[in-house]
Amino acid sequence: MSRIATSYLALAALYLIVGLTMGIGMGMAHEFRFAPVHGHINLIGWTTHGLMGLAYRQWPEMAKGNLAASQFLIFALSAPIFMAGLVLSIGYEQPIVAIAGSVGVFLGALLFALIAARVWLGDKGV
Ligand code: HEM
Repeated sequence: MSRIATSYLALAALYLIVGLTMGIGMGMAHEFRFAPVHGHINLIGWTTHGLMGLAYRQWPEMAKGNLAASQFLIFALSAPIFMAGLVLSIGYEQPIVAIAGSVGVFLGALLFALIAARVWLGDKGV
């Protein structure tokens, strides 16, 4: 398995634990103000990192070249910036970090789509 696939899957598992812990904590405290942060930790952290890791595992050609490493770095570094930015935005009405993080997440997703399209559309196998 490529380093990118395992790195994505390891991060996904970490986000799963953090996201579930936060969900349980919110429920116990009856404090749901930061529910969007929990939602994004689970959906961008666990689900999206996990799916990207599985895609890189299923199609190892995706990991070839410099583009995949850039894609991983941009997406994996922007995601926690975005999540921390959501905390600042909801808790302190400071949206600038969330905006910066979300642009990075979007760029990482765009690169992922380009890499996937290149491999999937070029793949003539069944
Ligand atoms: C131990 C497991 C989990 C617990 C205890 C939990 C708990 C919660 C709680 C208490 C809320 C707030 C509900 C409200 O505002 O009324 C919430 C919202 C949410 N959860 Fe979870 N959750 C868990 C797992 C997950 C998972 C695995 C996902 C997705 C993969 C997820 C995605 C969401 C989303 C999208 C929201 C809505 C966020 C929003 O309102 O902006 N949760 N969860």
